[in-house]
Amino acid sequence: MSADDFIVTPWHVEGDIDYDKLVKRFGTEKISSVLSERIKKVAGEDHFMLRRGIFFSHREMNRILDDYEKGNKFFLYTGRGPSGHTHIGHLIPWVFAKWLQEKFDVNMYFQLTDDEKFYAKPNLTLEDTSKFAYENALDFIALGFKPEKTKIIINTRNIQTLYPIAAQVAKKINFSNTKATFGFTNETNIGMIFYTALQSAPCFIEDKPVLIPLGVDQDPHFRLTRDIAPKIGKPKPALIHNIMIPSLEGPGGKMSASDENGTVYTTDAPNIVKKKINKYAFSGGQPDIEEHRKLGGNPDIDVSFQYLRIFFEPDDNKLKSIYEDYKSGKLLSGELKAILIEKINDFLAVHQEKREKAKSQIDQFLFENK
Ligand code: TRP
Repeated sequence: MSADDFIVTPWHVEGDIDYDKLVKRFGTEKISSVLSERIKKVAGEDHFMLRRGIFFSHREMNRILDDYEKGNKFFLYTGRGPSGHTHIGHLIPWVFAKWLQEKFDVNMYFQLTDDEKFYAKPNLTLEDTSKFAYENALDFIALGFKPEKTKIIINTRNIQTLYPIAAQVAKKINFSNTKATFGFTNETNIGMIFYTALQSAPCFIEDKPVLIPLGVDQDPHFRLTRDIAPKIGKPKPALIHNIMIPSLEGPGGKMSASDENGTVYTTDAPNIVKKKINKYAFSGGQPDIEEHRKLGGNPDIDVSFQYLRIFFEPDDNKLKSIYEDYKSGKLLSGELKAILIEKINDFLAVHQEKREKAKSQIDQFLFENK
């Protein structure tokens, strides 16, 4: 991999991602200001993640809006591969999905792929991934989805429902398609080779078009799904993609749930958050205070600032003054980190309480095989 290059696949993200290049590489479309305005108009409200380009790319979002304006509803689908505890980056598409559910009053499916992570991670057992599926489900529920309109699918538990759909899909995807899409080799286990069919299945669980908010790394699965959808007489899934949250330790690569220091988990205690941010959050500041006052910091590469922009400071005016103060040198790196630490800990205090409550609500959300 050369210095200016990067890798984005569902199982591996590395390097400093150039999102314009990625849009070309994947063949998606950038979200234009026209589309962003249209979403705002139809939803009746703006979302800061759209305004700031956190959601930056899509496939056929316009068709979803056209249909919706004609009175035809869509449904929402997203998911999580339960390989560890939930971190802040995972929450981005879920928070956005929650907003979409509220604004469009639509059904939502959330897939927990305990099988996928068992296939993909040599060290995880099925017991491990199903334990994390439960833990991740609590985070999802804590965000406030409506139980009447939201179902959580756990692959090993709901296989009876998924399998007939996955079989339709699997028959239309051949080995050279998946191989070309994911770079599989003869050593890849056959669970992985079949797996796209299972991630596709929820796209066709209702007889309506689906809209999927997702991290852009997951796009390749649905590129395959979109190719085969007409062959099984189904509408193509529409997608809206978010950028990957940077690891605490700096630009290049997404936050990985297996890199403890690069990650803030939803289960972290306040003192842990404080320690992680202070110790690991990559700073765009100058080496010493004197120079920082003179030259100012660089918010565009500062991970603490990026976390505020991506997730923790929805107020544009507040974000702007933090940006300007940091750039001018008025705000020091330690002070910027202190702002972020407080924001994260305020968020987590509320989230962790809701997460506890979710333990008694989970049964209402679990999809029951018919
Ligand atoms: N493969 C995804 C992951 O590793 C989980 C997933 C399943 C998913 N279905 C999805 C993600 C739909 C986005 C949209 O996290």
